[in-house]
Amino acid sequence: MKPKAFVTRPLPAAALGRLASRCEVAVHPEDGALQPAQLGAACRDVEGLLVVGGRVNEEVLKDAPRLRVVANCGVGYDNIDVAACTARGIVVTNTPGVLTDTTADLAFALLMAVARRVVEGDRLVREGRWQWSMLWGADIHHQTLGLYGFGRIGQALARRGRGFEMRVIYHDVQRAGAEIERELAAQFVDQETLLRESDFLSLHVPLTPETHHLIGARELTLMKPFAFLINTARGKVVDEEALVEALKSHRIAGAGLDVFEHEPHLHPELAKLENVVLLPHLGSATAETRLKMALLAVENLLAALDGRRPPNIVNPEVYA
Ligand code: DGY
Repeated sequence: MKPKAFVTRPLPAAALGRLASRCEVAVHPEDGALQPAQLGAACRDVEGLLVVGGRVNEEVLKDAPRLRVVANCGVGYDNIDVAACTARGIVVTNTPGVLTDTTADLAFALLMAVARRVVEGDRLVREGRWQWSMLWGADIHHQTLGLYGFGRIGQALARRGRGFEMRVIYHDVQRAGAEIERELAAQFVDQETLLRESDFLSLHVPLTPETHHLIGARELTLMKPFAFLINTARGKVVDEEALVEALKSHRIAGAGLDVFEHEPHLHPELAKLENVVLLPHLGSATAETRLKMALLAVENLLAALDGRRPPNIVNPEVYA
């Protein structure tokens, strides 16, 4: 008999086909995230759970006694209570690597859109309010690109910044190797220097208790008044209330946001501001990358159900 698997959102057909070749599969057919109680009910006799957005916590796990693997379709796994999974012997996996360049592309697109006022310009043209001497933006080339977090995606953004002849500085809890720094001409700086010197500050840290509200009122005050903040990491890394205040008072020049503190709910003031570009968590959203992510999540799930160690295990201690 095939093991049962549940998928929380529709997946590309090739990935679902691969999963269905080995499992009895049920898919939540809608795009909206399931509430923990609904997800728990859907997982009652399931061994493999493939998560495409949505929270997996104790409330879900207590209703899923047969669960052996939670395969997250995403690199960030702050939506999953990993400790609770480990305590129940459940393997957790993610999908690193395959979305690095796509997410860096989107971060750079946001940076360019907000600096060059692309969305405002589009709106004016559509409304027939074409004007020449307005919408002056900010230069990108030869400016300083600051990267908070210098893992795969941060480094990929540095490569894009180099293409625009930007000066690249970064801060991370772990300094990169000399070879990487040389290749990307990236200079390691302390947090305060990063905040003070960046013309564009782009966030690339995972959400953890340590990075919650990493950027708040104090940090925004240290930034240049003509600097831009770009967030494609996680919304809760930024104190959104403080950011709204900084944007309203022009304490900083603008922000490009793909993620929000109370996603999918928007701070009511954000939508009223002209100096922000807002996207609905599109970082990895290309057809090619979403397919790669789905296929990788499926392979992780199948490996765990086969009793093999999945390629992208997040909690190896589960085997201890
Ligand atoms: C990721 O992979 O972490 C993206 O943000 C999608 O959740």
